[in-house]
This record gives sequence, structure tokens and C-alpha cells, in this order.
Amino acid sequence: PSFTVIVPAAGVGKRMLADRPKQYLKIGHKTVLEHTLEKLISHPRITRIIVALDPQDPYFDELPISQADWITRVDGGKERADSVLAGLTALDSHSWVAVHDAARPCVSLSDLDKLFRLFENNQGGGILAMPVKDTMKRAQSEDSKRVSNTVDRDGLWHALTPQFFPLAQLRQALSEALEQNVTITDEASAMEWAGWPVNLVEGSERNIKITRPDDLTLATFYISQEELTCE
Ligand code: CTP
Ligand code: MG
Repeated sequence: PSFTVIVPAAGVGKRMLADRPKQYLKIGHKTVLEHTLEKLISHPRITRIIVALDPQDPYFDELPISQADWITRVDGGKERADSVLAGLTALDSHSWVAVHDAARPCVSLSDLDKLFRLFENNQGGGILAMPVKDTMKRAQSEDSKRVSNTVDRDGLWHALTPQFFPLAQLRQALSEALEQNVTITDEASAMEWAGWPVNLVEGSERNIKITRPDDLTLATFYISQEELTCE
């Protein structure tokens, strides 16, 4: 089977402190968004991508890739979850769907393979994730700088993307969670809230989300290495 990927790309990238949203910053001679979309579509099982964009976005139409027939553009929303739901609503088929941040251009094809194996396993959907390495501290309160205690690191994971679920389940979970004002930071949190299983698929730590300026430097390094090994 083939899968559709929804790519939320309607954010402003505040923490990046740049003159434009981070998905339009350059890695080499292409934007972050082009790298992400080209990586995804190069996977044999991905045949269609829905990109959620700011309705006022002046950059996307300038990209050659915007004309590709495998791309569908939808208007994103206020929060990431609203953008994802807009993408889910634009889909009619009843298969599985993956959601992948525009700001994660370094995802690998082998991690996508690993994640897509959930489809055959019949144990529910899941997410790429990474075991936490550092010792974790909880502060006494949200703005306190004093440690309350050490959180047991065993069993703690970083949630990455893609996140991969049966479309009908995800659409219902996400829309109900948003209606009830549940805090939704990723697709998995809506699925957890709705009581569906979420599997952790260990992925590469190269799959960083470009968030702050240094992340772009690191992503540029990873992608230049990929380009060297592909040629
Ligand atoms: N995103 C989106 N719609 C929103 C907010 C975010 O589609 N209303 C997308 C971003 O474009 C990004 C992904 O969700 O690809 C992950 O969000 P994040 O890393 O937080 O990006 P921004 O919100 O753009 O960055 P910041 O939080 O620093 O402003
Ligand atoms: Mg954000």
C-alpha cells in the first residue's frame, strides 16, 4: 500500500529569530521545506503529500516543487494541531496517514521503513522516538530554577515525527480533542487521549527539528553528509 503524508508548514518559526519562517531558510541551495518534501516523496511508499501553509504565505509558490502533481496545499491554522486537522480533512481515502514536521528535513528513508512496518504488524500506529540520554530534573515550579527531584529516565522517550496512524482514528481523535480543549502537542497525544495504542519506534538522533539557529547548522552538516554518500 501507499501512504499520504501531511506536512504542517504553517508556523512562523519564532524561536529561529530569522527574517522568514524557518521552513524557508536555505540548506545549500534549497529551502528546508524542499529538502523535507523531496526526502519524503523519494520513499517508494509515499505517493502524496498534503502541505498545510499559512494562507498568507508568499514563499511557497516561488518554489519549483509547488507545481508538483503529488502535492496538495491546504490552509493551516492557529496551532500545529489545527494545521494537521486541516490536512486530515482534505483526505478522503481510508488508509493510514503519516504526519511529519516541515522542520525535520533529516529524517532517513530507513527510519520511514521502520515506522511503516507498523502497518503490517497490526498492533496500532506509532511514532519515531528516541530514548532520553540525559539525566532529567524537575524544577519546583514552572519558573523556578531550583530542582525538586530527579525524574527516572528509564522509559522516557523524545517524540519525533513522522507519526503514523489509521486515518479515521486520527481524524476523530484530533477533532474531538481540539473540540474539548485538550492540550495536543503532537498527533500521538490525541491518540493517547482517545485511548488508542501508540507504539514507539526507535529512530535516528539525526532527525532533529530545526528550532533554533544552531539546529540549522547541524542540519546543513547532516544533509551535506547524506549528499556525499548518495553520489
Ligand atoms: N506548524 C503549523 N501550524 C502552526 C504552527 C506550527 O503547521 N500553527 C508547523 C511548523 O511550520 C513546523 C511544525 O509545525 O513545521 C513544528 O512546529 P514548530 O517547530 O513549533 O514550528 P514553529 O511554530 O514555526 O516555530 P516556533 O514555535 O519557534 O514559532
Ligand atoms: Mg511552534
